[in-house]
Amino acid sequence: MNKSKKSDLLFQRANRVIPTGIYGHVAPGNGLPQDFPHYCLSGEGCRFTDVDGNEWLDFMCGFGAVLHGYRHPTIESSVGLQQQHGSVFNQPSELMVELAEKLVEQIGFADWAVFAKNGSDLTTWAIRVAREHCGREYVVKAKGAYHGVDAWCDPGIGGRISSDRSHILEFEWNDVDQLELLFQQYDGKIAAVILTPYHHPSYSPSILPADSFWQNVENLCRKNGTALILDDVRCGWRLHDEGSHKYFGFTPDLAIYSKAMGNGYAISACLGSDKFRAGASDVFLTGSCWNDAYAMAAALACLKLVRDQQTAGCVLQKGRLFCARLESIAQSHGVPLKMTGVASMPYPWIEGDDDLYQIQAFCKIAAAYGLYFHPHHNWFISNAMNDDDMEHAEVLSNKALEEFGNEFYSGS
Ligand SMILES: Cc1ncc(COP(=O)(O)O)c(C=O)c1O
Repeated sequence: MNKSKKSDLLFQRANRVIPTGIYGHVAPGNGLPQDFPHYCLSGEGCRFTDVDGNEWLDFMCGFGAVLHGYRHPTIESSVGLQQQHGSVFNQPSELMVELAEKLVEQIGFADWAVFAKNGSDLTTWAIRVAREHCGREYVVKAKGAYHGVDAWCDPGIGGRISSDRSHILEFEWNDVDQLELLFQQYDGKIAAVILTPYHHPSYSPSILPADSFWQNVENLCRKNGTALILDDVRCGWRLHDEGSHKYFGFTPDLAIYSKAMGNGYAISACLGSDKFRAGASDVFLTGSCWNDAYAMAAALACLKLVRDQQTAGCVLQKGRLFCARLESIAQSHGVPLKMTGVASMPYPWIEGDDDLYQIQAFCKIAAAYGLYFHPHHNWFISNAMNDDDMEHAEVLSNKALEEFGNEFYSGS
């Protein structure tokens, strides 16, 4: 796994016509293995091939956008059928109504759905709906949580003005006392609390909700007339087939989905309860390709797969097996590796590795074996991964961990 000629040449070309060549979280550098390809050619199941012809066993799934495996035949044929008619028209297709009906049927708390292309489109829209509904300005989020690229929440620093965040308050994940204090300090002024199902920041281990965290959050929101917004963009359909709130046992007012929803076809949805229907009707929403029927056909096929195959349970089980095996292989080579968070989207953490030097070194070694392991973002388990793929991943991981253990832990 060392061919990168075409990838490097493309990156040089990109740098001339695209600021920084590749932007966002897949920008080269930032501690990512140098062997990681810059450009991909194709994907099948839980593997993809880069432009230089290297094949990778994939643990990132398009950063979560692909749950059922690349080019899943059922999803592709559903899109193929719609391709006989077209994608974007002046008006939406029938598929949009069907998709909203199916989502409302599957996600129990919801009475309505709207659609867009990205998670960010709708996390931002949802807080506006909450503001419209409550007639309040402030929004609370967890420190370090990612909710998208808009100025109220993005992790960058460029192009922001102070007012962008003047109405955004933060508390430490799991610190309900801090949240309660915010409710006291901003009494009657908080429109929404927006949270992911559990805390999965980049660059540090994932943190599960403490006992009764969600119950306390929900109670505080209800008591204060504040909207509880679930950002299920990353976790959606990886924890529970009916929405991640079911996995942790709480009820949101609004919830946003994207990533796995279309298995790589760009679509997002915000679902809400009747209480927020009027607010939702009053906040403007549209987009260039917002009614794209290909993505809606893909999403309908995904929803059916999720129901028929109970996908969330499958990826959770695959993840549990893989994480347990990986930790035990690591231990056999003296490496204190822990897979944190929920097993279908685990975050790797080496004890004591606060500057991430070791995990970066490990992922670099793993990359040389064709394993696409990310050093500072949670991984994603593909439902296309079968027993043979899993075994293959374990064999390669064993080699990589042995090499890594010899380099870093041979004296311990
Ligand atoms: C939890 C969460 N919320 C929101 C977003 C933003 O979604 P998008 O990148 O589709 O705009 C992401 C994307 O990674 C996410 O993980």
